[in-house]
Amino acid sequence: MQRTYIKNLKESVGKEVVIKGWIDIRRDQGKMIFFDFRDMTGYVQGVILPNAKDAHAVGEKTRSEWVVEVKGKVNKRPEKNIQNEKQNGDIELEILSLTILNEAETPPFDVRGDGREIGEEVRLKYRYLDLRRPRMQKNIRMRDKVISFFRDYMHKNDFVEIETPIMMKGTPEGSREYVVPSRLEKGKFYVLPQSPQQFKQLSMVAGFEKYFQIARCFRDEDTRGDRQPEFTQLDYEMSFVTQEDVLQFTEQMFIELIKNVYPNKKITETPFPRISYKDAIEKYGSDKPDIRRDKNNPDELGFVWVIDFPMFEKTDDGKIQAAHHPFCSIKEEDEEKFMKGEDLFSIKANSYDLVLNGFELSSGSIRIHKSEVQQKVFELLGISKEEREKRFGHILEAFKYGAPPHGGFAPGIDRIMMLLESEPNIREVIAFAKTGEGKDLMMGAPAEISKEQLFELGIKLNKPEK
Ligand code: AMO
Repeated sequence: MQRTYIKNLKESVGKEVVIKGWIDIRRDQGKMIFFDFRDMTGYVQGVILPNAKDAHAVGEKTRSEWVVEVKGKVNKRPEKNIQNEKQNGDIELEILSLTILNEAETPPFDVRGDGREIGEEVRLKYRYLDLRRPRMQKNIRMRDKVISFFRDYMHKNDFVEIETPIMMKGTPEGSREYVVPSRLEKGKFYVLPQSPQQFKQLSMVAGFEKYFQIARCFRDEDTRGDRQPEFTQLDYEMSFVTQEDVLQFTEQMFIELIKNVYPNKKITETPFPRISYKDAIEKYGSDKPDIRRDKNNPDELGFVWVIDFPMFEKTDDGKIQAAHHPFCSIKEEDEEKFMKGEDLFSIKANSYDLVLNGFELSSGSIRIHKSEVQQKVFELLGISKEEREKRFGHILEAFKYGAPPHGGFAPGIDRIMMLLESEPNIREVIAFAKTGEGKDLMMGAPAEISKEQLFELGIKLNKPEK
């Protein structure tokens, strides 16, 4: 007999069906044994009545989390037993036979509650069990819905999804990079992308005009609640656009996302308010203002644009660096100062952030598309001509072959999900997340590699032997 999904059982009242899944709970009442069964579509109660002797003998042995196949008859529950608040609360499966597909040891923690009281280390070590809990199932399934909304939205607006390399040469976006040794060219390394920034700009030079990617990014930085060493962006770039075009497009997309996928949520203010970086610092003491009216309401979403960011900033050791990244274009009114290299910290870029409930969701900018202007930025950043050629020769050259004006944005999907699901950190919305120290406790990564592998890669470790 074909398997019926638990969510569809109601359509089979009075009929015999087969379901497959897990025992969520078993309540042995002696003559009768009650179960809650679970599959990917939901929950249903089942019962072994005293006359079903064979099923009873099997049912007696079973425990929570065992995997079973159940043949049974779908019955309507008597009026007094109906539980309207529960899925399938008006039906019950009368079990005719029970087959054990696999036994399970007692899990290290209960997978039914929301799990917030359980230490995170043990949850991450047994993530495949932690993901069974309804809260985590919902977070991951909603994440899929949000990503699929974004993909559709992009395609409807003529964007093309382009996969860009994971093994590449560095992108200067401020963070430390993860490196991958090359076997064929010993002593040389790939780095993992902090973002596809250069590739998306090169896709504009290539004439795609509208690029997007659900892009995995890697940054070797100290992790926090809203940071992971690897994370996902909805990365996009458009040619022949102004800052206003990018803002309008993005704003409309988020409004549609909320309307379609989270209709119970309310946006504090539309159009999203806009505030300059300078005013945000003055008024809120932060470039990530939380503009919600009721900060205790989990259904309120306070989107705000922060615009007019400075192009350059001072590092802690007094050096100059790009405030966002070195590819941002300069505001027209500051171009003269820029070309003269004067008063650098007052120069503003065509760059913008989208902030939600006090978290930075995304940064973006209208880019430089002329080789000589890009050269000038690198020069002001103190990057020597030789170094420029070595690190960025490809992009400086590409800009010489008819690069169109372009700009883009890259909302972080993990942060979006954290806020939409009212979770306290992004680990709750990433299926196989790493700890705050960047460790994968389940697999045990990072891990040592064998002497043979090291030899093959031409690597000698500078670490005391144990
Ligand atoms: P930026 O570095 O600001 O811009 O990153 C954009 C967005 O990505 C998310 N994000 C992260 N999420 C989780 N963990 C992290 N470690 C992490 N780092 C960043 C945030 C952030 O706002 N290429 C540019 C975008 C552009 O100019 O188009 C970029 O990556 O939500």
